[in-house]
Amino acid sequence: MTSSTKQAKKGKVVLAYSGGLDTSVAIPWLMEQGYEVVTMTADVGQQADNMDEINEKAIRTGAVTAHMLDLRRDLIEKFLWPGLKANAMYEGVYPLNSAYSRPIIAQALVHIAQVEGAVAIAHGCTGKGQDQVRIEVCANALDPTLDVLAPVRDWHMTREEEMAYAELHNVPVPTTRKSPYSLDDNIWGRSCECGVLEDPWNTPPTGAYGLTVDPVDAPDKPEKIEITFEQGIPVAIDGKPMDGIELITHLNKLAGSHGIGRIDMVENRLVGFKSREVYECPAATVLLAAHKALETITLAKDVMRTKADLEKKFAELTYEGYWFSPLMEAIQCFMDKTQETVNGVVRVRLYKGSAVVEGMKSDSAIYRYDLATYSEGDAFDHTSAVGFIKVWGLPIKTWTQTHEKGNVSFENATDAKLTPDTVIIKAS
Ligand code: ARG
Repeated sequence: MTSSTKQAKKGKVVLAYSGGLDTSVAIPWLMEQGYEVVTMTADVGQQADNMDEINEKAIRTGAVTAHMLDLRRDLIEKFLWPGLKANAMYEGVYPLNSAYSRPIIAQALVHIAQVEGAVAIAHGCTGKGQDQVRIEVCANALDPTLDVLAPVRDWHMTREEEMAYAELHNVPVPTTRKSPYSLDDNIWGRSCECGVLEDPWNTPPTGAYGLTVDPVDAPDKPEKIEITFEQGIPVAIDGKPMDGIELITHLNKLAGSHGIGRIDMVENRLVGFKSREVYECPAATVLLAAHKALETITLAKDVMRTKADLEKKFAELTYEGYWFSPLMEAIQCFMDKTQETVNGVVRVRLYKGSAVVEGMKSDSAIYRYDLATYSEGDAFDHTSAVGFIKVWGLPIKTWTQTHEKGNVSFENATDAKLTPDTVIIKAS
């Protein structure tokens, strides 16, 4: 039976196609399972020098139709900006670059599946990562009628068997040596894992990095930039208005040249084990620092505190594949509301691996000089402090007064008994 007679049996599958060996081999493999293969390649701003040849390669390898989608603007506006508004960093450090691209890839697969009348979608993730979880959970959330196939997870081929299978089916095999790392990148950053990085004692070799210079080799002269935000979103650098793609691309290059955005961490994976990852997120690092700083002068105290709790939840939901979920939607509504006043300009110093906020100003700042100053012009009512302290401290004072004669004390918890080394001088 030829693959074209088999294909009538199962219908179309839309495959997330990168043009690499795994997803190329997946084309004949899916055809052998009885599917007609349509490919979907997402441009999310990854460093790839053969993007314009990918569609053609898919067709040569057996796909009936090949789609190339430039998703950079959607990625920025619907994923990265919401993430920035939420100051989202998984476990406080990872700016979630890879985690944002999976829901948008799932969304694009579902979109093309609906356009093409496909019965299934497929991705090239292995059975060990969390990218498989994100794509599948997100795809199911968007269209539960579609089957989700994971050829690489199912075919159980070694690398050698895969190469042999590729040759047998005339799939072009890569001529360059396979990277010793597992890499993934998009406009928000680059993720690098596996190889020597798997031993957390090893210093990441220079070759693990691709977007940043070693801070030691960065320019000896600091550079200062001013970032303008409107409702939590960066809109200009040094007064020059830029769209998202231009702004992030510019910042990646500039901050990367100062060695900014290297993150080396061991993270807790959704699939149960810990893994060592090296990320490079130059633009994200600068923007997150600047945005957080601007919020300190534009958000109310209680909003900031509640927001911090929800920021953590936002990052976890993103990391764990719950982008399309009722909780995420509700949290994003909260975040959007908070950003109405996050307008202003932040000055950041870029220098040898660090992005330090040096100044900020905002027309919507609730920072008040006249209230904060200890100098001339102080408008704070000092006399109000007396009554305030009485009321604020009343519950604690009442507690101590009530238990004075009992056996309740603070001593166990706070080690309130001092044991100082004391020097006493008496007037003679
Ligand atoms: N550990 C990161 C995450 O789960 C990065 C994953 C990158 N994927 C890859 N195929 N290298 O978000």
